Amino acid sequence: MELRCLLLNIVFISVVNAMLAFGFVNQDEGRRCTYGRIEKLMRIRCHDMDLKEVPQNLKSSVEVLDLSYNRIRKLRSGSFQRYTDVKFLMLYENMILSVEPGTFEPLTALQEVDLSNNGLTTIPMELFQLPKLRNLYMDSNDLRELHQDLALLETPIRAPIEYLNVANCELHDIPDLGILPNLWQLNASSNPLSNFDMNKLGNLCHLRVIDLTKTQISPCSCQQVTNHLSALGASPQFVPVCMAEALDSNACPLNYNRTVDSPTFHSCLTSAELAETRGFWLFAAGCFGGSLLVLLVFCYCIHRWRKKRRNRRLSQAAQNRKHFVISPRNATNNRLEDQPLHCDTA
Ligand SMILES: *[C@@H]1O[C@H](CO)[C@@H](O)[C@H](O)[C@H]1NC(C)=O
Ligand SMILES: *[C@@H]1O[C@H](CO)[C@@H](O)[C@H](O)[C@H]1NC(C)=O
Repeated sequence: MELRCLLLNIVFISVVNAMLAFGFVNQDEGRRCTYGRIEKLMRIRCHDMDLKEVPQNLKSSVEVLDLSYNRIRKLRSGSFQRYTDVKFLMLYENMILSVEPGTFEPLTALQEVDLSNNGLTTIPMELFQLPKLRNLYMDSNDLRELHQDLALLETPIRAPIEYLNVANCELHDIPDLGILPNLWQLNASSNPLSNFDMNKLGNLCHLRVIDLTKTQISPCSCQQVTNHLSALGASPQFVPVCMAEALDSNACPLNYNRTVDSPTFHSCLTSAELAETRGFWLFAAGCFGGSLLVLLVFCYCIHRWRKKRRNRRLSQAAQNRKHFVISPRNATNNRLEDQPLHCDTA
């Protein structure tokens, strides 16, 4: 089967090559976006095609959209209006400098977006309001305006962010997105993290992996991060490798009290629990509602069936009776049963 596929492919490629050689197909048309499936999701790859805009002629049911390695400079508010089913969006290695407000708003199914290696100066704030967004790659952008945009961000954010990559973004501190109860991996490597604020770790109660390599954080901050992660029960293999010799606790106090014992840490935990119990109750309510609906439909069907049967019987009875009813007075009488039948002598 696979061999046949391969042979067919080879034949196809040879035919296309021959056509190209003879000028039947021009080069541009030969480089169309390719359609396929990946784990049952509909994927369209428009990878490395010198695109300058998001193409608008693709199937709108696309779920995995790969626009990487192109020359897109700007994302417009209409760019993704047609593609509301997209769950995974690859935009890495473009030249994106700006994103119009509302660009990502229609993408309510979006779970992962990769905007790495572009020219962005901030993270489009609307991404944080997408209800399904879990993974966000922003690495290798110069996010020099992020700090001021985050000051206006409404927290807690709606997106259930689990993975955030802001490596190599010229950041002086880890971005403050408020409480992120689902975040388990944060990559902030290759940033000049000179203002690293330990207290922000209190927002990340489920953090398991943090990459702080090439960040110039102080040995004490490094030790405190390690300390925080150990207190969370993160496996030591994920703890940053920056710890040289353990510092004296006078020079570098343990920070449980500032992170794990902080009020933000506790509200992070409770909001995670809340989401879990809410999920459970939604599920339970769904099950209950579903069963109730099935029961109602069943009752209704039974009712309908009974009514039909009774009507059929009645009409049969009426028909049977009509043979005896000769008088027009009786024929128009509704209460046939109550009337003694009699023959009209007229
Ligand atoms: C963090 O991101 C950088 C740049 O994308 C990458 O090279 C590095 O492997 C990442 N670290 C981890 C732990 O994934
Ligand atoms: C700091 O945290 C430690 C460990 O959780 C605890 O034993 C200690 O009492 C705390 N100190 C203060 C001042 O809260």
